[in-house]
Amino acid sequence: MIARTAKELEKIGAAFAKKLSGGDIVALQGELGAGKTTFVRGVANALGIRKRIPSPTFTIMNVYKLPRAATKKFHAQRLVHADTYRLEKPEEIFTLGLDEYLTDGESIVIIEWAERVSRHLSGHNQLAGHKVKKIAIKITKNGRRINI
Ligand SMILES: Nc1ncnc2c1ncn2[C@@H]1O[C@H](COP(=O)(O)OP(=O)(O)O)[C@@H](O)[C@H]1O
Ligand SMILES: [Mg+2]
Repeated sequence: MIARTAKELEKIGAAFAKKLSGGDIVALQGELGAGKTTFVRGVANALGIRKRIPSPTFTIMNVYKLPRAATKKFHAQRLVHADTYRLEKPEEIFTLGLDEYLTDGESIVIIEWAERVSRHLSGHNQLAGHKVKKIAIKITKNGRRINI
């Protein structure tokens, strides 16, 4: 799929979000400025989150409570938006409290720069059975190419 504008990429994120439910883990791959955070804005919007969605580059992890109607619809309590770009060591994902969210079955977790921690994600025992949905975004001359 190609998104010619950031708005189009948000719409693709929103459409993708319809299939999400608690326990899902989404790994976003793509260079700086590819549109990972933009994609998450679309997902958050579809989940009923009306807050501003800043990049978690410095906070590493932002947690958003889903509104009541959405908790029923998506069988999830929260959206967890992580960005591992600034982690010094991949294993730090387990000290952030992120591992709890990955396995509690009531969180939808989206991770930017997931390739930096993918070995740790797939090597994490408790994650067995939680399929990670991988999405790659590439900058092309026509816009962004998204592989879902
Ligand atoms: N087709 C497009 N899709 C997404 N973002 C785009 C597009 N064209 C330009 N942009 C711009 O690229 C930037 C993407 O930033 P961001 O979503 O923060 O990327 P990342 O999180 O991957 O670093 C934004 O400034 C956005 O406005
Ligand atoms: Mg980002």
